[in-house]
Amino acid sequence: MLERLPHLLGIESLSREQIEFFLDQAKPFQEFQLYPLKKLATLRGKTVALAFFEPSTRTRISFTTAASRLGADTMALQAEASSLKKGESLMDTVRTLEAMKPDAIVMRHSSSGAPHFVAERLEIPVLNAGDGTHEHPTQALLDALTIRDRAGRLESLNVTILGDILHSRVARSNIHLLGKFGARITLCGPSMWVPREVEGLAPQVRRTFSVDRALEGADVVMTLRVQTERIHEPALAPDEYIAGYQLTPERLRRAKPDALVMHPGPMIRGLEIDPAVADGPQSCVLEQVTNGLAVRMALLYHLVGGPPADAPHPAKD
Ligand code: CP
Repeated sequence: MLERLPHLLGIESLSREQIEFFLDQAKPFQEFQLYPLKKLATLRGKTVALAFFEPSTRTRISFTTAASRLGADTMALQAEASSLKKGESLMDTVRTLEAMKPDAIVMRHSSSGAPHFVAERLEIPVLNAGDGTHEHPTQALLDALTIRDRAGRLESLNVTILGDILHSRVARSNIHLLGKFGARITLCGPSMWVPREVEGLAPQVRRTFSVDRALEGADVVMTLRVQTERIHEPALAPDEYIAGYQLTPERLRRAKPDALVMHPGPMIRGLEIDPAVADGPQSCVLEQVTNGLAVRMALLYHLVGGPPADAPHPAKD
């Protein structure tokens, strides 16, 4: 049994053992998603606050559903309809939520480090649901669960991450996580989106600007969203991006025949990924979404539930 974490703010500070613990805890919750009645009483009486200061479909609904399936209530900040619009600060907003006595807060913010700033000042666990270009820890954990299920292991894989690495918190969290398991990680995209610094995030990271070279022999191919909302002066026209970096069926043939194709979503079909690949037999995109529920249930159970060391897993109870 792992000592309870105070917060979940990133993957970088987690050990390999902690990551494996959360993936193992998520396994029974995966099976639970197939039950006809998807409701546990494990967190009955607890409340999870959701503070999404940036748009989200998957992460927000996944955390809301995970809390509900564990029996917890949720309180959700609607950023667009909140007093943020009247000039209220981030700290006053989250302190206002905390004053309503939730047991944890799930937070997404466009500023890197915002959940860390909040976690230092609140008394309740903070779960990072994505901060700026920094980290998206629950995405990396659900990706790892998907890879471990499909490939049978996490160790020593050849992983290619393709696209806009510079603006991607998903890339950073995945590089940290897979690097702890000995992955050889190849980062590929237009040169302005694959800065030299990213090579320092894990021991075996290399850059290439040739998509053909990047895909050669890959076990896992992660495509990333082109983050148009973070790119103030796009230096590359969509047609150039498609010609140079779109994951097409022809390009995918350079990877191993059973290579996994992953995308954190939302996908821009026809830009980052050819629809034939997105919907093809190697695609794990929807499996990633389903696994997100299991991972977030495991994390909320750990951070909010505080299970005693000898407690049976709630989904096996
Ligand atoms: N993968 C991900 O974070 O998607 P959302 O922005 O829809 O939450």
